[in-house]
Amino acid sequence: MTLLTYLRRKLGLTGTKLGCAEGGCGACTVMLSRFQTHTQHHYAVNACLAPLCSLHLVAVTTVEGIGSVARKLHPVQERIAKAHGSQCGFCTPGIVMSMYALLRNNPTPKMADMEEAFQGNLCRCTGYRPILEGYKTFTVVRQIYKHTVKTHSCQNTHSHCIFFFLQDGGCCGGRGRENGCCMTNGSGVEKTSEEDVDVSLSIFTTDFAPFDPTQEVIFPPELMRSRSLCFRGDRATWLQPDTLEEILRLKWKHPDARVVVGNTEVGIEVKFKNMVYPVILAPSFIPELNSVTHTEDGVVFGAACTLSHMGAVLRQAVETLPPHQTEVFLAVLEQLRWFAGQQIRNVAAVGGNIMTASPISDLNPVFMAAGCKLTLMDKDGSRVVQMDDSFFTGYRRTVLRPQEILVSIEIPYSQKVETFVSAFKQSPRREDDISIVTAAMSVTFTPGSNVVEDLRLSYGGMAATTVLAKRTANRLCWGEELLQEACSTLAEEMTLDPSVPGGMVTYRRTLTLSLFYKFYLTVLQKLRQQGVNVEEVKSDCVSATELYHPQTPSSVQIYQAVPKGRSQDDVLGRPMMHLSAMKQATGEAVYCDDVPLYENELYLSLITSSKAHARIISVDTSAAERLPGVVCFVFADDILGSNATGPVVYDESVLADGQVTCVGHIIGAVVADTQLHAQRAAKAVKIQYEELQPVVTIQEAIAAQSFYQPIRTIQKGDPEAGFKQADHVLEGEMHIGGQEHFYLETNATLAVPRGEDGEMELFVSTQSASKTQSLVAKALGVPANRVVVRVKRMGGGFGGKESRTTVLSTVVAVAANKYRPVRCMLDRDEDMLITGGRHPFYGKYKVGFLNSGKVMALDVSYYSNAGNSMDLSLSVMERALFHMENSYNVANVRGQGFLCRTNLPSNTAFRGFGGPQGMMISESWITDVAQSLGKAAEEKSLYITDITAADGDDLLLPFCFAHVRQNRWTKRGLAIVPTKFGISFTAVFLNQAGALVHIYTDGSVLLTHGGTEMGQGLHTKMVQIASRVLGIPYSKIHISETSTNTVPNTSPTAASASSDLNGAAVQNACEILMKRLEPYKNKNPKGSWEDWVKSAYFDRVSLSANGFYKTPDLGYDFDSNSGRVFNYFSYGVACSEVEIDCLTGAHKNLSTTIVMDVGHSLNPAIDIGQVEGAFMQGLGLFTLEELHYSPRGVLLTRGPGSYKIPAFGDIPTTLTVSLLRDAPNDKAIFASKAVGEPPLFLASSVFFAIKDAISAARAESGIKGPFRLDSPASAERIRNACTDRFTKLCPPAEPGSFTPWSVQV
Ligand SMILES: Cc1cc2nc3c(=O)[nH]c(=O)nc-3n(C[C@H](O)[C@H](O)[C@H](O)COP(=O)(O)OP(=O)(O)OC[C@H]3O[C@@H](n4cnc5c(N)ncnc54)[C@H](O)[C@@H]3O)c2cc1C
Ligand code: FES
Ligand code: FES
Repeated sequence: MTLLTYLRRKLGLTGTKLGCAEGGCGACTVMLSRFQTHTQHHYAVNACLAPLCSLHLVAVTTVEGIGSVARKLHPVQERIAKAHGSQCGFCTPGIVMSMYALLRNNPTPKMADMEEAFQGNLCRCTGYRPILEGYKTFTVVRQIYKHTVKTHSCQNTHSHCIFFFLQDGGCCGGRGRENGCCMTNGSGVEKTSEEDVDVSLSIFTTDFAPFDPTQEVIFPPELMRSRSLCFRGDRATWLQPDTLEEILRLKWKHPDARVVVGNTEVGIEVKFKNMVYPVILAPSFIPELNSVTHTEDGVVFGAACTLSHMGAVLRQAVETLPPHQTEVFLAVLEQLRWFAGQQIRNVAAVGGNIMTASPISDLNPVFMAAGCKLTLMDKDGSRVVQMDDSFFTGYRRTVLRPQEILVSIEIPYSQKVETFVSAFKQSPRREDDISIVTAAMSVTFTPGSNVVEDLRLSYGGMAATTVLAKRTANRLCWGEELLQEACSTLAEEMTLDPSVPGGMVTYRRTLTLSLFYKFYLTVLQKLRQQGVNVEEVKSDCVSATELYHPQTPSSVQIYQAVPKGRSQDDVLGRPMMHLSAMKQATGEAVYCDDVPLYENELYLSLITSSKAHARIISVDTSAAERLPGVVCFVFADDILGSNATGPVVYDESVLADGQVTCVGHIIGAVVADTQLHAQRAAKAVKIQYEELQPVVTIQEAIAAQSFYQPIRTIQKGDPEAGFKQADHVLEGEMHIGGQEHFYLETNATLAVPRGEDGEMELFVSTQSASKTQSLVAKALGVPANRVVVRVKRMGGGFGGKESRTTVLSTVVAVAANKYRPVRCMLDRDEDMLITGGRHPFYGKYKVGFLNSGKVMALDVSYYSNAGNSMDLSLSVMERALFHMENSYNVANVRGQGFLCRTNLPSNTAFRGFGGPQGMMISESWITDVAQSLGKAAEEKSLYITDITAADGDDLLLPFCFAHVRQNRWTKRGLAIVPTKFGISFTAVFLNQAGALVHIYTDGSVLLTHGGTEMGQGLHTKMVQIASRVLGIPYSKIHISETSTNTVPNTSPTAASASSDLNGAAVQNACEILMKRLEPYKNKNPKGSWEDWVKSAYFDRVSLSANGFYKTPDLGYDFDSNSGRVFNYFSYGVACSEVEIDCLTGAHKNLSTTIVMDVGHSLNPAIDIGQVEGAFMQGLGLFTLEELHYSPRGVLLTRGPGSYKIPAFGDIPTTLTVSLLRDAPNDKAIFASKAVGEPPLFLASSVFFAIKDAISAARAESGIKGPFRLDSPASAERIRNACTDRFTKLCPPAEPGSFTPWSVQV
């Protein structure tokens, strides 16, 4: 049992969250304290991987243990909440505990310590900036300041953006742009602001409780001793010997026993690969395996030393020893910088890394290149082996004999001044990611010369084991000839089968050369520094030798303050904290799976298809039935009502009936007493299939004409005539990959039968309470009035819990209807497999334009991969089409949208809902037009957008272009991207909302509305609105939950419209109540709110009111292409600057400036949070996140280990967010605008900045003009697009000549 299961299920401590169960998200972080070598150590760990047995003599501190709302918040809890660093809050306890553990070890950390502490924590909502900002207060003395700004209404913009600039600079500074500067041409209105505008730090209050490290809980003295232990479970025995002799004796007796230290490898094998290890030996208390000894030759580490400990020892050695002795240590430290997150490094052992023998181990290449020595031992004695190419005998195999264990590793000093060692790691994401290729290189020269005595190049990720490049070794002189020979022999030696697991064959091969080239240049520099006569590294190549060091991010947020003199009780427009933030930070906020267990409650696990398209021949549950804890199975026959389901059309089944149409298709479910038993039984169900040919990719669907109907067309003007008028016609195409929602809280439902009249109560993590209610009722065969759906809050939704949640809820309700309360929270891998994501899109365009650049005609076809059911795909496509021009006005346009019917899990709503894909294609063609006209990037920006960038653009450009010229192997790029996002559901009937407001006789108000809270701050905004209308402090108003028995027939919380719709309904209800209270106010004007409420009550006036709102005048007719589809638009502009490493494809997000139009913000802190969160999610979409599917439609990326969302380190180094000022919107509540989705597309500025930088790299190889770059701009795509001498040595295999590991869907 893991610590996490024990905390949540046995102790009921639900503050610690389950986000992934594989050590990849940090939601489960707790602090362990242990007494070792006479001192106590505190360290953050992942409770999901920590075996409970390993915690003997260990103190565990969880988020509940450090503070609570009722008692007192700990400063780490208070500051993240007040700094707006908690939105949905599901990641918050984990982040709190990472910070807490850091402070326990170091009460005054540096920013770099903090960034390191968070490497293993993910957040999908906030964009990370506010978390760092809040916790910065532990590292530096905060300077609270306000800038008085000048506002300057700049007429260069279509959208009348008003740019803020600090008094000592900004704007275009009067230098003017293409159409002049509004300061000199008189069009601008310069004025000194009447109000101060809060800048940066003033977005959160500063009345923090001080942090006093002396007040922390002490280490329990009774945990200060050790002894050997034995725990016996039904499937495994855990033996924890405390002497070397004992463990050797036990290993002799149990040669198949696993030695487990951190469990970061074994834990994954047991959970995800169904491995069973009956005997486990835990050496954590054996002195020899935990010791560190300094010898004449190097440092000897016991095999159980953790990576954090090893890092600390090596860092100290580097500080004290002469530099020439520490080359190997520095290489190990370089690998450790990017090795997993802190929580993993704190428990994972060096011996575990070696003995796992993973081909992508980050340490083994260094150990191999450095010739480390390993001491292996059994009960009869020991032997020392060198880590060379004979140590690994095959995939995850070594020379270790079954009775032996690894006792220690000696990491040698580099012995000579003529020895140089480097290590490299390239992974999709820089932080906490496994390698694509990892390498270590060591060279020793004859003293005083460049004659190579010994050259060792060791690579991971290029074979089934870590390998030494043999043919490349030992060349004579370090120079160009050696480089060329080494590269061609490496290209021959480091080959990969085109079908190799992990794919990226060309990229991986190119990396072996590129990394060697980096080493080559680095060594050249070092030789010259030693006075050896070698060629000088050209100045434009020096940047290729520089190691990446993150810079501490800085940020500015600008928003309009409320007018002076406004009552403090009126919180509308103020940066009020999310109302649940404090509870979220203490772990007290209740999510669906935190609802206490019902007595006799059962757990459900899904049985899903392993085939993409097949007929089900048989389902055999006999083996599963015999397993412990199993209560029953649920299949299609158990559905009393209708098995047909779907959010718009009923084209799918709740449980598969005869046929499966995707991998992950739900066939049935097992209900058992515990989650573990249900999951084991589900895996034991045997299904026989007759496989049918699947359609997996968009291209396959096009070839098979596999489309859902209708095929939508939107046309404006006469495209054919427009093409005739054009000077040039250009064609292009682009593919945009899908995206996993990766809400930190996976789908969860608890269904409780009420025992009479078919009533059922469901607690669900869903954005669509009413849809869940109606579809559950349909499956149960009861009217909707028997089903109540309750939603307290979600740990993120992003569209992923709009329609796909209903299937799980229905299955759970069907099971509960048979027996008693049933619960299911999907594991991360199940959630990713089953629930679909953002639609992949393929766009084909033809664009006609004049020499001046004016676009005359556009013909574009969009193809989306809809998956195995319609779901919301038609509306998603419609929105893509409505956004096909983005912010540009093209006179003659035709757009067609095809929904590809494929055998993938149905794709669904995702923040932006097709808008980002639609606009991405438009940015692609407009970039092509600019490039084909030979416009330089700075002209292109102005030409394309005709929108002057926000402040900062002018400052960035000179640096950017200087960098492009000066460096051959690093290039900078810049892009400005506008967005114009339509607000309203495109399905007109959904643009309605209701609210219910009760005033109780003590004056307190209970507010309910149709929207759900998923972290976006909707409830906070609704309370702000009610507070304004009722004229009472917000503290008198409470929202408990969203439920179908209070506000019926609600629209999903989606389309960014929930504040508009529900806010207006809340306003309506509150106004009704105020009208009823008016006579009592008039009668007693000096009375209090409570007085008026009481008087009205005694007068028998109803103190409860319903509110309702519908958006007026909406409706679009596709036949005539006419009508009003959106109520209004939200606008924004972003300017981003990036730097790419042309040799590895890695990139840095240097800076981003965003100006976003949110009307009169209801809550600037929440709105800025939405802008930053959406931006970071878009950053993931366009530059990082890749879902890999096999050609047979199997999703290969099913967790944070293989699917990378942005982490703390991906924030732009400089991030400025300004909310557009003085821009009231007369079409929505209190002049505000929607904000949830519109900013997401602004992240494409990073994609196009990368494309700009790639263009510069290609120009170095003489390649000019438009080129295709698909999204995301991953490291692989960037490297492959930067064609050079190395890529030419690694040509791709002929398409069609092999079966690829993954396909572009
Ligand atoms: C989220 C996450 C991120 C990761 N990131 C990285 C990364 O960036 N780079 C990387 O290289 N790896 C990474 N890993 C892999 C893993 O963390 C490392 O391999 C780690 O060093 C394993 O150590 P452990 O103590 O946890 O091993 P355990 O799981 O305890 O054991 C691993 C294996 O080693 C054997 N073993 C351990 N000690 C001995 C011994 N003394 N004698 C004989 N056999 C022994 C065990 O029997 C077992 O087979 C990551 C893992 C996770 C879960
Ligand atoms: S749940 Fe433990 S790291 Fe994700
Ligand atoms: S607030 Fe971090 S995941 Fe939602």
